[in-house]
Amino acid sequence: MSGVSDAQRAQRPDRDPGQSPDRDPDLAPAEPSAQTPAEFWEERYAGTERVWSGRVNPALAAVAADWSPGRSLDLGCGEGGDALWLAEHGWTATGIDLSPSAIARASAEAERRGLSGITFVAADLVAWARDPAPIDRGAAGFDLVTASFLQSPVEFPRERVLRAAADRVVPGGRLVVLAHATAPSWADAAHAHHDFPTPEQELMALGLDPAAWRIEVAEVRERAIPAPDGTPGTIGDTVVVAERLG
Ligand SMILES: C[S@@+](CC[C@H](N)C(=O)[O-])C[C@H]1O[C@@H](n2cnc3c(N)ncnc32)[C@H](O)[C@@H]1O
Repeated sequence: MSGVSDAQRAQRPDRDPGQSPDRDPDLAPAEPSAQTPAEFWEERYAGTERVWSGRVNPALAAVAADWSPGRSLDLGCGEGGDALWLAEHGWTATGIDLSPSAIARASAEAERRGLSGITFVAADLVAWARDPAPIDRGAAGFDLVTASFLQSPVEFPRERVLRAAADRVVPGGRLVVLAHATAPSWADAAHAHHDFPTPEQELMALGLDPAAWRIEVAEVRERAIPAPDGTPGTIGDTVVVAERLG
């Protein structure tokens, strides 16, 4: 795992989701390890009081603000910032993550905010991609499937999971995929070279049938992200929004 000590992490419990590849291990390839992905992510969450900010990812809030709510599913939901925001905006929201600690934290936050109509499930998306029924509890599909920064430094068949995600969108529903497109502007060169997917690469990974999908957004959007010393900076998010034609 790349160079963020527990002490550094504990000093910054309010990071935005997906923030800061040069201070987080999210994107830097992990050192070869005997840990399974489940152990890696559980250790990541269990080892600190909070990893992310609890706030919605700005790109999701920007695209989804005016959509009519329905059933939503957030893949790799972490501590639930996106699913909680969706539930607060009327969606019947489900979030899935591999880490039981992340799911427990997300569920506790839903309770604290007095939200009903939200469910968090600790499960492996690799198993879900093979057979979603037991994890989706028989849902016919979702009006919105989201995957925000579903990027992992340890083994993860991302393309397979993204394609399964598309399969779970009902006609008239949408798929939203957010990913790191750049390192933060203030990241040093040693940390700036990650394999960030471009919008075109995301579309290739998704393999959506043009006859069945309309691509609404496929672009890099910049957002503000202050450096650890508080000086202003920016980071790019790859944003893909696709609508399944009815
Ligand atoms: C970079 S974090 C993003 C968290 C959240 N979506 C956000 O935007 O803050 C990636 C998340 O994917 C989850 N994850 C990784 N592999 C997974 C798997 N096989 N099944 C389910 N979740 C997984 C991790 O536990 C982690 O919470």
